[in-house]
Amino acid sequence: LTPKDLAGKHVLVTAGPTREELDPVRFISNYSSGKMGYAIARAASRRGARVTLVTGPTCLDAPWGVETIHVTSAREMRDAVLERYASTSIVIKAAAVADYRPARRAPDKVKKSDQPETIELVRNPDILAELGANKGGQLLVGFAAETESLLENAGKKLNEKNLDLVVANDVGQVGAGFNVDTNIARLLYRDGRVEELPLMGKDALADVILDRVRDVKSKK
Ligand code: C5P
Repeated sequence: LTPKDLAGKHVLVTAGPTREELDPVRFISNYSSGKMGYAIARAASRRGARVTLVTGPTCLDAPWGVETIHVTSAREMRDAVLERYASTSIVIKAAAVADYRPARRAPDKVKKSDQPETIELVRNPDILAELGANKGGQLLVGFAAETESLLENAGKKLNEKNLDLVVANDVGQVGAGFNVDTNIARLLYRDGRVEELPLMGKDALADVILDRVRDVKSKK
């Protein structure tokens, strides 16, 4: 029997990649499968939370009993998240949001020519930084997928984005990160503690993350 230890909490989870369109048939994106975020949404729901999942395009089925909102671009994800932020108690941002988008989206399919093409990119809003700057008692969890200087970069995110917990994973390691069913994570806390977790399935990791979130929340 699952303990309903998240009953009464509204958990908002983001998952998957975003797509940034160049024209009606082309986009810039990344390899995020959405598996980690969906696992967290399922686990939080099983543990009694009211769950909202804001997801970029993935191949996964919407979890049963979870309010699922489908978005495509980073800007759509930002609007969907900010609209609901005030009513949430825990926000877990597992989405791999594209940092840049094309400066212009062509209304019609771009034709090829023999000339080289250059794509101008502009920065997308950093959703999590915006949540951190406007925190009102919510507990904020960020993900840091890095291929180098993992702990240093993850620690920077914890501070700069005003987070309560960062789940750091070295996506260069076999069995960690994008598109696999397992992960090797390190959890970074505000007091400087780092917890090293072994290789585990994303479903098991989802429960560990929620255990820690519950413990941090109860001390807040
Ligand atoms: O800075 P970086 O993209 O590595 O930070 C990762 C964390 O920030 C993730 O939790 C991700 O969902 C979030 N993020 C965001 N908006 C962005 C970029 C990242 O919410 N534009």
